[in-house]
Amino acid sequence: MVRAVLEADLPGPRINRHLYGHFAEHLGRCVYGGFWVGEDSEVPNEGGLRLDVVEALRALDIPNLRWPGGCFADTYHWRDGVGPREDRPTMVNSHWGDVVEDNSFGTHEFMALCELLGADPYVSANVGSGTVREAAEWIEYLTRADDSPMARLRRENGRDEPWRVPFWGLGNEPWGCGGGMGSGAYAELARQYGTYSLDHGDNHLYRIAAGAADADYRWTEVLLQNLGRHLGVGEVTGHGTNTYQAVSFHHYTIVGDSWDAKGSATRFDTDEYYRTMVKAAAIERILAGHAAVMDAYDPDRRVGLVLDEWGTWFDVEPGTNPGFLFQQNTLRDALVASVHFDAFHRHADRLVMANIAQTVNVLQAMLLTDGDALVLTPSYHVFAMNKGHHDAASLPLAVRGATPSRTVGDTELATFSASASTKDGRVLVSLTNLDATEPLVVELDVRGVQVGSVEGHLLTAPEISAHNTATDTPVVVSDLQDVSVHGGLLRVTLPAHSFATVGFAVSA
Ligand code: AHR
Repeated sequence: MVRAVLEADLPGPRINRHLYGHFAEHLGRCVYGGFWVGEDSEVPNEGGLRLDVVEALRALDIPNLRWPGGCFADTYHWRDGVGPREDRPTMVNSHWGDVVEDNSFGTHEFMALCELLGADPYVSANVGSGTVREAAEWIEYLTRADDSPMARLRRENGRDEPWRVPFWGLGNEPWGCGGGMGSGAYAELARQYGTYSLDHGDNHLYRIAAGAADADYRWTEVLLQNLGRHLGVGEVTGHGTNTYQAVSFHHYTIVGDSWDAKGSATRFDTDEYYRTMVKAAAIERILAGHAAVMDAYDPDRRVGLVLDEWGTWFDVEPGTNPGFLFQQNTLRDALVASVHFDAFHRHADRLVMANIAQTVNVLQAMLLTDGDALVLTPSYHVFAMNKGHHDAASLPLAVRGATPSRTVGDTELATFSASASTKDGRVLVSLTNLDATEPLVVELDVRGVQVGSVEGHLLTAPEISAHNTATDTPVVVSDLQDVSVHGGLLRVTLPAHSFATVGFAVSA
């Protein structure tokens, strides 16, 4: 049994809906086969874009989509991906499978996809192997309305009106695949690129500087120190002060002993399951670490923190291209996601965006495609069940007494995770029981409001390794049966290895 108190009349920072953002890279079958099947495909599509995938993501209220990478972004030259498809040059996708990319999915296709999804585009510019001019012209091409050279080119390519592009990333993992730079060298480059990343007309870019790996707080500090007023921190003077609005970082949940042995996505024992959860829970400490550095330089929290790649990373499925990063997705992945979201909600005062890597067919995917079949993964269901947190006010939820836990190696892993928010007269509570074998009774003392009728949803399966395929879907959402409310006391029984959401109307 665990007891917790929910202060339902003390709304905190807004949980930005962009914490539920997505990421699509030219990698394996994410773009090609995932989003894009081409106009001549038998798979139902609109202008080449796979409609079942679009519908499934629309059902999540997908807030944004980051593209074209990832490592791919720093090899991508946008001009190769516009104009008649048959005239587009090919290139080698050197990071991912060494395959030839035909550029049939480019800027217009991506923007059409975002329009179909109702998602905000997050475009990552090439800093590693591109030029400042190339990046500046891409923005002009995308967002300028008048008769400028790039706006004219866009019109020649069939799009009259400019698009709205809110999110603009400058480089990706510059310390690694994005150019092998040190933090100081990247900060210099970022200033240069930022200076020419202009707002055209009424399109206002939210510029995101490429950030640290995991707990490399020093990288974040160097960015804060060196980008100075370019980060919106300090004095902003006159023309040419195109500031960055955010810095990013990446953090993957990787369990294995080495990069070459990360473990199977579906075949793991209980010990490996708990070790995965220890890694997942580390996101709380890492978020706090970056936030603390940022607080020192930006106490008014004008600069956002963006986690633009996160999720599990296991060995690829046997027999698949190692460069395609295709892995199955089990209930374990779903619980990794739910634990991350609880941490995200608690850091909503600094964390403004997060993007799961990646949306379709790659790493911790929401969706898997198998020919013309579409599979909703367990992780997808967590995103769906948590939809009510989008743009809601976070609520303080604190465990009273001992948090259930177990010792994993030299770490004490909390096996209960929870968070809550309020919006439109309702409260949504997310509850995770990480215990592999034991159910958990949760008593939640809801304070400050009258609790109305309660409804709950549950995600679990007999096995933690349960996963969905085109022919078998053991991991689906069901109604939560074991939930009751008496006065302000909510009582829920969570089965072993399960995630649940409980929603209720509130009145003063
Ligand atoms: O998501 C796969 C890769 O992981 C991305 O391309 C890169 O940014 C990260 O290392």
